[in-house]
Amino acid sequence: MLKRTTQTSEINFKEKFNLSGKVIVITGACGLIGRAFCEAVAQFGGHVVVVDIEAAKPTEFAKDLEKRYNIKCIGVETEVEKKASVLQLKEITLKEFGKIDGLVCAHQNKSHLKFEPFENVCEENWDKVIEVNLKGTFLLCQVIGSYMTQQGSGSIVTMPSTYSNVAPNQNLYKGTSLGCPAAYSASKGGIDALSRYLASYWADKGVRVNMITPHGVWNHHEKTFEENFANFSPMKRMSYNHEVAPALIYLLSDASSYVTGLNLKVDGGWTVW
Ligand SMILES: NC(=O)c1ccc[n+]([C@@H]2O[C@H](COP(=O)([O-])OP(=O)(O)OC[C@H]3O[C@@H](n4cnc5c(N)ncnc54)[C@H](O)[C@@H]3O)[C@@H](O)[C@H]2O)c1
Repeated sequence: MLKRTTQTSEINFKEKFNLSGKVIVITGACGLIGRAFCEAVAQFGGHVVVVDIEAAKPTEFAKDLEKRYNIKCIGVETEVEKKASVLQLKEITLKEFGKIDGLVCAHQNKSHLKFEPFENVCEENWDKVIEVNLKGTFLLCQVIGSYMTQQGSGSIVTMPSTYSNVAPNQNLYKGTSLGCPAAYSASKGGIDALSRYLASYWADKGVRVNMITPHGVWNHHEKTFEENFANFSPMKRMSYNHEVAPALIYLLSDASSYVTGLNLKVDGGWTVW
């Protein structure tokens, strides 16, 4: 319950970031950023529902978190682009915990398109990226967000991309085997628009919808790519997954109780110039 006061001495500001007892569903939880999200939520006392595809072994990671942080966590194998799978995720979570306080959509599919030039992209590859990234986020918001509106509270965090807003600078990829597929940008642009839509749609239902846009999160990249990236970045370096996670704690917790529709960019100033 929000305190109606102007006396700041009555407020415990640290407590606003506390996630103790909150149930947070995180998709793509075994990925580069997802892992940091799970770790951070667990450190702030939240129960983590570790969601990923079977091959990523979400249950193993959930057990590991549970052991290290002495909190209840579960792993749920889910294919986010399939409604039956997302409905099952909701049912399992509610059976285990009886509520859902946070939903974090940190899944992605793009890897098999990394090296495919736009002129050659086949429909199947395009569809797969849009299905997992955009439709997956839609289904999660529809199934779990709708539940949150009945509950009267909830915080949703989605993940668009810098390339929802600006085009990739193709010089970044010169001399490397990397690239950014158009379908990825298109899917992420859709997530951006969907998130803004839902922020306004559910604003009076107690459900906040915000975004985190990371950029250039280091994952043992090719040396030339890292050098190119540093040349274009105001901060002259790539970022680390643990630099993204604190933004999530802010958006999931009561610290951001008056924040909805925000795209919190953790991009080292990439788009300021
Ligand atoms: N890494 C970056 O620099 C960066 C930059 C901008 C945005 N993002 C976004 O942040 C999020 C996390 O990125 P990341 O680098 O950790 O990605 P990642 O590739 O390391 O992890 C993605 C996770 O999604 C899971 N996944 C794939 N298909 C799935 C499906 N059908 N259902 C459920 N899970 C599925 C994968 O198994 C994997 O664990 C993504 O949405 C990504 O687009 C990342």
